[in-house]
Amino acid sequence: MSELEALKSELQGLQVKALASIKEVENLLGLGILRVYYLGKKGKLTSVLKGVGKLPPQDRPVIGQYVNATKTALSEALDSAESLLAAKEKQQRIEAERIDTSLSGRTAKRGVLHPIQQGLNEMTAIFAQMGFDIAEGPEVEDEFHNFDALNIPQEHPARAMHDTFFFEAPKGQQAKLLRTHTSPVQIRTMKNCIEAGGEPPLAVVAPGRVYRCDYDVTHSPMFHQIEVFKVDKDVSLAHLKGVLQYFLSAYFEKDLPIRLRPHYFPFTEPSAEVDVGCVFCNHKGCRICKGSGWIEVLGSGMIHPNVLKSVAIDSDIYSGFAFGLGVERLVMLKHGIPDLRLFFENDVRFLRRMGA
Ligand code: PHE
Repeated sequence: MSELEALKSELQGLQVKALASIKEVENLLGLGILRVYYLGKKGKLTSVLKGVGKLPPQDRPVIGQYVNATKTALSEALDSAESLLAAKEKQQRIEAERIDTSLSGRTAKRGVLHPIQQGLNEMTAIFAQMGFDIAEGPEVEDEFHNFDALNIPQEHPARAMHDTFFFEAPKGQQAKLLRTHTSPVQIRTMKNCIEAGGEPPLAVVAPGRVYRCDYDVTHSPMFHQIEVFKVDKDVSLAHLKGVLQYFLSAYFEKDLPIRLRPHYFPFTEPSAEVDVGCVFCNHKGCRICKGSGWIEVLGSGMIHPNVLKSVAIDSDIYSGFAFGLGVERLVMLKHGIPDLRLFFENDVRFLRRMGA
């Protein structure tokens, strides 16, 4: 057999073998390997080409055509196998990643606001909407802001009434305490305003935590108050009553009668406790309002001239009203919650049901 014939049959054999393996290969990776094995720089076909040099010159173009034909046949076979395999692999991937949209989803467990926080937010929003600015003060207070400036001097019996938690004070320093009410925020905001060169009108709502050494069905040592006050020229008791009436109807989402009963607070004069028509019996008289048809909800009054004096506001020019309400109490009334302690036991079943 001549060199030419030998090369021809080698090429033929190579083509038959290559086409058979291309048919059998099952994935793109294998196909890529085959492509390099036959057509790559150091592939089978190239090594056959090396034999061409040994041929007599007139035979070389002939074998060149054979080599090209083999190359084309293999490339075409590889290309069409590649597009088939690519389509097959794509289909497999789609199958594997298929999402069953008929399955029900996993519901995310969402947290809820604590009912007290929710109440605070709702109440504060009502006052903010009426035009009151929101202010906050520290929970660790001193005697000046919690008592003295509020017209509760040393030895005043009202200090004993407040069941205060005191911190031990280093010698010669003012004792710190946990604030017993939000009224010290009155002092802080009025003082800040005056010291910054400002002047009334001032209209403020101050929500926050307060502390008293007291614990039973209706008392918790930590609870929440909202302080509301307004100082301006010619502020009267009528303004106080109007704001209270609006707020209570907005919070309880119904028109409720209210009444002001004379009372005593050192920091207001005159002072009044405020009752709303019982939300449980619609003012008719029931077990909860002890048959009276009224429920006490907050303490209020006209800011005492001594309080204005303590923050350098001229009480001949300015007057103001103030009130402080117990957040827990109002939330209990609105939602018919019988025991204050439910708020602090953190039973998630209760919190979830109450939460927003
Ligand atoms: N600070 C009073 C209390 O906690 C409530 C109050 C505030 C009364 C403002 C009058 C005016 O009992």
